[in-house]
Amino acid sequence: MDFFNKCYAFQDAKKIMEMGLYPYFREISSAQDTEVYIKGKKYIMLGSNSYLGLTTHPEVKEAAIKAIEKYGTGNAGSRFLNGTLDIHEDLEKKLAEFVGKEAALLYGTGYQTNVGAIGGLAGPRDIIFIDRMDHASIYDACRFSFAKKVVKYNHNDMDNLEKQIEKFAGEDYGLFIVSDGIFSMEGDIVKLNKLVEVAQKYGVRIMLDDAHSTGVLGELGQGTAHHFGLTDKVDLIMMTFSKSFASLGGAVCGEADVIHFLRHHSRAAIFSASMPPAAVATVAKSLEIMKREPERIKRLWEITHKMAKEITSMGFDIGISETPIIPIITKDMHTTFKFWKMVTERGLFVNPVVPPAVPDGSCLIRTSYMATHTDSQLDYALSVFKEVGKALGVI
Ligand SMILES: Cc1ncc(COP(=O)(O)O)c(C=O)c1O
Repeated sequence: MDFFNKCYAFQDAKKIMEMGLYPYFREISSAQDTEVYIKGKKYIMLGSNSYLGLTTHPEVKEAAIKAIEKYGTGNAGSRFLNGTLDIHEDLEKKLAEFVGKEAALLYGTGYQTNVGAIGGLAGPRDIIFIDRMDHASIYDACRFSFAKKVVKYNHNDMDNLEKQIEKFAGEDYGLFIVSDGIFSMEGDIVKLNKLVEVAQKYGVRIMLDDAHSTGVLGELGQGTAHHFGLTDKVDLIMMTFSKSFASLGGAVCGEADVIHFLRHHSRAAIFSASMPPAAVATVAKSLEIMKREPERIKRLWEITHKMAKEITSMGFDIGISETPIIPIITKDMHTTFKFWKMVTERGLFVNPVVPPAVPDGSCLIRTSYMATHTDSQLDYALSVFKEVGKALGVI
């Protein structure tokens, strides 16, 4: 059998392309901002994770340029060997302090952070509990790990989590819960109070994926644990730099001994090159602005409340969203792609989400908001949602 048979047999995407409904790999020829250009046409960006709108901030760009001038463009090695710069160590200290932990370790991407931290920590005497709706990188991290077992619990269902943990109580396993802080498609927040209660009852360690929470939750953007006042009850806080931090990379923050262990056991950190200087400087400057300008987060939440209220009052279903990630639930795939096409023709950039990212019949249009969106951009978007939603019978 030809090894490539699966590729030749894969026709799903080609069929959608032929129908003119293919929504992926769109070529943006401008910066990731509230407005972007594709083939010369302007779109209002409602699909970005740049929650604080820092990708085009003059100070952030200047910091990146200066870092390139001083350190060059790449480090040509991993943190473990030749790839550690003084600005890496400095950023780790600042991030750890920001989220209220002793130490931090940087990785090349957020995906790698999950793979590196979970894979580096979980061994054959450990059991990992993950939320069914956790991000794909957590699923992949569990696969890469040597954990004895990976147990999924129902989404944000802490009774179900407890039932799963109970099965192993009294046995000599290291137990570890990994949950998204804000869930990336549904836009809801982990029920951390109850999760911590369950974890404490059974002596389970907790890691939160704050990819969508850093810069969004907490008065300065310190993330989910801070938002709940439970920083000292959460063992590890993972964050990405591809969203509020306007760059690429990730970090895991926690107890100094645990981070020290990861520095010497985490294969994704040891066997992969370190974050390039421009990315490190971008994150450091974004962090400075985040702390200096809390009004950005305030505005982000004003926008979130306005959009959630307006979209639901039109009759759309936004599911369980409670954050700047606001899905418009369109259910079947055909309606989802038609909705996408019609709003695109009217100048909006949104992301259609279909299986396997969501279960069958739960397709959605994922919208997400930035602190820098203007009211007129948002009002125009709302008018388009209403027109298209009515035309397609979604509302
Ligand atoms: C919850 C969550 N964790 C991890 C990641 C991976 O982060 P990155 O894209 O920075 O590699 C993402 C990215 O979408 C995410 O949404």
